[in-house]
Amino acid sequence: HPIFLHDYQPPEFLIDRVDLAFELDPEQTMVTARLELRRNPAATRGDGTVCLHGEQLELEWIALDGHPLNPVDYRVERESLTVQRVPDRFVLETQVRIHPAHNTALEGLYQSGDMLCTQCEAEGFRRITYFLDRPDVMARYSATLIADKTRFPVLLSNGNRVASDDLDDGRHRVRWEDPFPKPSYLFALVAGDLRAVEDSFTTASGREVALQIFVEPHNLDKCDHAMRSLKKAMRWDEERFGREYDLDIFMIVAVSHFNMGAMENKGLNIFNDKFVLARPDTATDVDFDGIESVIAHEYFHNWTGNRITCRDWFQLSLKEGFTVYRDQEFTADVASRGVKRISDVRVLRSHQFTEDASPMAHPVRPDSYIEINNFYTATVYQKGAEVVRMQANLLGPEVFRRATDLYFARHDGQAVTTDDFVRCMEDASGRDLSQFRRWYEQAGTPELHIQTSYDEATRTCSLIVRQHTEPTPGQPVKAPFHLPLAIGLLGPDGRDLPLRLAGASSPDAPGTHVLELRQAVETFHFVDLPARPVPSLLRGFSAPVKLSFDCTDDDLLFLMAHDSDGFNRWDAAQTLMQRLLLNLVEDAEAGIPESFFDAFRRALRDEASDRALLAEVLTLPAESYLGEQMAVVDVDGIHRARTTLTRLIGERLRDDLLAVYRDNGESGPYAFTPEAVGRRALKNLALGYLMQAEDAEALARCQAQFAGAHNMTDVMAALRLLVDRGGLESRQALDEFYRRWSGESLVLDKWFSVQATSPREETLTQVIQLMRHPDFSLGHPNRVRSLVSAFCNLNQVRFHAADGAGYRFLADRVLELDPLNPLIASRLVKSLIRWRRFDPGRQALMRAEIARILEREDISKDVFEVASKALDAG
Ligand code: ARG
Ligand code: ZN
Repeated sequence: HPIFLHDYQPPEFLIDRVDLAFELDPEQTMVTARLELRRNPAATRGDGTVCLHGEQLELEWIALDGHPLNPVDYRVERESLTVQRVPDRFVLETQVRIHPAHNTALEGLYQSGDMLCTQCEAEGFRRITYFLDRPDVMARYSATLIADKTRFPVLLSNGNRVASDDLDDGRHRVRWEDPFPKPSYLFALVAGDLRAVEDSFTTASGREVALQIFVEPHNLDKCDHAMRSLKKAMRWDEERFGREYDLDIFMIVAVSHFNMGAMENKGLNIFNDKFVLARPDTATDVDFDGIESVIAHEYFHNWTGNRITCRDWFQLSLKEGFTVYRDQEFTADVASRGVKRISDVRVLRSHQFTEDASPMAHPVRPDSYIEINNFYTATVYQKGAEVVRMQANLLGPEVFRRATDLYFARHDGQAVTTDDFVRCMEDASGRDLSQFRRWYEQAGTPELHIQTSYDEATRTCSLIVRQHTEPTPGQPVKAPFHLPLAIGLLGPDGRDLPLRLAGASSPDAPGTHVLELRQAVETFHFVDLPARPVPSLLRGFSAPVKLSFDCTDDDLLFLMAHDSDGFNRWDAAQTLMQRLLLNLVEDAEAGIPESFFDAFRRALRDEASDRALLAEVLTLPAESYLGEQMAVVDVDGIHRARTTLTRLIGERLRDDLLAVYRDNGESGPYAFTPEAVGRRALKNLALGYLMQAEDAEALARCQAQFAGAHNMTDVMAALRLLVDRGGLESRQALDEFYRRWSGESLVLDKWFSVQATSPREETLTQVIQLMRHPDFSLGHPNRVRSLVSAFCNLNQVRFHAADGAGYRFLADRVLELDPLNPLIASRLVKSLIRWRRFDPGRQALMRAEIARILEREDISKDVFEVASKALDAG
């Protein structure tokens, strides 16, 4: 049954204080809770009962104001505990028994390897104790942890460690107190035999904060990058947003079994170890990058999420959209702004635009859900970040900073809504954002169609801009959005022209001009232009829309070469390559114009250009992205076309590619700097083109790189190419890699995924065999993602094989996983929901598998929601 935003009611009771005591043991843990409750003056009066959330709890005893309750005074149901006839203010004490070692869903308190840890967002706390498990109930917590001292020497929870002692039965006891009121989803505890890397940070106001990263002993040598990232993030938040850390201690724990990326629990962030552990020889540049931004993201939540939290889960983007925006800006500032924008837009287009076009389409602020875990989506996170970004751009940096200052001052300590956020933007700027609010309410990706024309007689360039948004489930008609459209006009020399709108008194300086759109159709006239300009539209991707405009291949080549906006140079190259590739899909004999190879060659030879940016520009659009551009995805045609163009580039530009490969070789020790990352990216891109051309020298170099590289980026790039090529070299390389790295779980994940994502014909057979490998386990989310999700989401040509074997494989995994871990199972189902995008044969096969999933009795509501929406919509 869905829950609706419009049914929101403030809680009838509030909880001011929570005192928890845990007797920890993997087989059974006893949880004692003492809750101080009082009637909420702001709520309507109910029937004199209080109803607490609770799931999979075995209630041992219960007392109200110190008196044990009779069974007639309360009722335990599958998901709740109701206590009758309660006073306006009272203390409720409960003791429950739970079983962490048997908690395979990894929500609540669970076991990971030898440690115990928690994940409470969104609704995991109710698997730990009976509670008002909703984010608008904010309380002060203490937690007393008791456990065997040899198995669990380290006992952690939120806030400050205030007491510890040894008991005489071999157990010890530690008490933690968190001075800041928080919602239950931010509660955390960890118990284990862990070691810490320690450091400290002095805040802007001179307070000393102890920093600790806890890991299993053998991982102590993989924490440096995470610690550096944390200190960078803390400084940046002070400088850019005026946000200081507020406790005396900040802890991070790396956990091997984790459903998501990481979690921002107050003072005690718990991380998927993938986003903490890195050494140059074990982690790639992409991993280093992920660690830096996830560490920052979770740290930034301390203000955007913890100090100010969400009123209800419909407001999830209040904290996630804003925090993603903040971590994106952090990376843009500490690394390369241009490259960061490109990679963020890649993610947005490949994940969010596809979600918007699917039966799971939902607004940034959803208005209903069955299972909230299904709404930790690209729409809530990435589109939510774009919506904050547009507001930042509409307000400008100074006013936006004033608006965020106002938000932090006005709402500190509160649980609020996305509307409260926008009101701060309005109040600080004096602007009316009522139409802008539609970005939170309407699902779907707006399509902008822009027609440009030039009139020589009046020296005027006109833009007719139309916006339109396709219907999405439950929203048949969309109203126009208010959006910023950043544009420039390039003169014949490639330079930005000064822009003057008709009627405006003086021209703007040359450069980017931001038009604000509000209507379905709008026309703009730019005057005083000496010649027909080439328009550069939607610079920096100023709004999350699909843009189409009439321009020639020559215009694209011109933009690619000259646009002052780095993002649009990249986008022009992508559009051009997309055109060439889609032509090749239609007609395998279609030629590639010489001008394309010339432009590619010029770019390769351009010594001055930023290598990271160049690598982005010279990367062909992904097969899945090309599929999105077609009315019906031509799975095999796309693969053929992309392989062909890759090979042609390798053949035609051989010497230049080899030169680039040589010039950007490994030099000196590994450094994670934008410069060094860019060199590796460009070098490995060149090697990829050469390998597709079956160049003998390239193969030798690839093997040498695999055997000799000192960093995992280069090793993996070489392994990937050897595996995709197949043959004896591939088998040897895989075996060698396995022998070297079988003891490092995160590296082994790469060994699984490099095989799962290979476009070779035998991949599915290989994946099925790997499911039986002793190192594979369905209970380990990272491993499932590295093999099963990688195959289903990153291997379009094999997953979508016409015989439906990929779909059958997926549905079997979903049915196996659902009883163990519904969150992971439900994520997998999402790989099938875009069935309408394929040909009738594939459609029927995909629908049959969704139907087979739905037929299973007792499927989780997670899987039910996604599977049923997939078949219902339309
Ligand atoms: N708040 C976490 C973040 O930083 C994500 C937690 C997701 N948990 C879940 N059960 N869906 O983005
Ligand atoms: Zn987050």
